[in-house]
Amino acid sequence: MAILEIINVSKFFGGLAANSDVSFTMDEGMIMGLIGPNGAGKTTLFNCITGYYPPSRGDILFKGRKMNGLQPDKVCKLGMARTWQKVRPLAKLSVIDNVMVGALCRTGSLALARDIAHEMLAVVGLTQKDNFIAGGLTIGERKKLEVARVLATKPSMLLLDEVMGGLNPAESEDIIQLILNIKKQGLTQMVIEHDMKAIMRISDRIVVINSGKKLMEGNPEEVVTNPAVIEAYLGPEN
Ligand SMILES: Nc1ncnc2c1ncn2[C@@H]1O[C@H](COP(=O)(O)OP(=O)(O)OP(=O)(O)O)[C@@H](O)[C@H]1O
Ligand SMILES: [Mg+2]
Repeated sequence: MAILEIINVSKFFGGLAANSDVSFTMDEGMIMGLIGPNGAGKTTLFNCITGYYPPSRGDILFKGRKMNGLQPDKVCKLGMARTWQKVRPLAKLSVIDNVMVGALCRTGSLALARDIAHEMLAVVGLTQKDNFIAGGLTIGERKKLEVARVLATKPSMLLLDEVMGGLNPAESEDIIQLILNIKKQGLTQMVIEHDMKAIMRISDRIVVINSGKKLMEGNPEEVVTNPAVIEAYLGPEN
């Protein structure tokens, strides 16, 4: 069953079409890779899906419900949570408090929120850092903190925007395993990532966007061998 339907979504910034007639659907439990060159419109699509911008045209249906124009907090309550390409921890708060903020989306109980936050810190491997100030974490730890915070909102779908960006190979491998473990729990995930090896390993299907438009969609093998995709990434001479 389709959990997410993106139907002819366009987003204009003045004369710039950051997204142009993008359509695809996602089945429950799958991992969809979303790739494309810098400036292709990937983050803009996340922003439209999660309510940070209303799409200029088109429809977004989550679990059959039209999401257009819903505010991000409502979108989160409906079970959709995203991380940010530029990580945004509450820098002066502790790690555990940052994750509790996510949990408080579903409960008014600080004690319960703290329990959920501890559980999610264990899932991402940050238990040892629970009382550290978030602003003092390494980039790899901040990325894990973002994932813990969105997991604490108890989502059914996660949108991860370059969660491996800037990480070393060992840290990226940790994130890959984390994404695969989250999939085992039955959550649906959309993942923006520039590391092609990583995206091929984790994705069931991949959507490629270029200059705001959907260039193609297919399984990982089909996508990496497609001449139009190679040209979009490497230029016409390759
Ligand atoms: N709020 C905004 N106002 C004006 N233009 C914007 C805004 N947000 C994005 N854009 C423009 O839309 C285009 C798509 O940007 P977007 O951030 O979605 O690309 P991206 O695929 O996520 O790129 P990257 O891989 O570099 O993160 C770019 O030309 C960008 O400058
Ligand atoms: Mg982006």
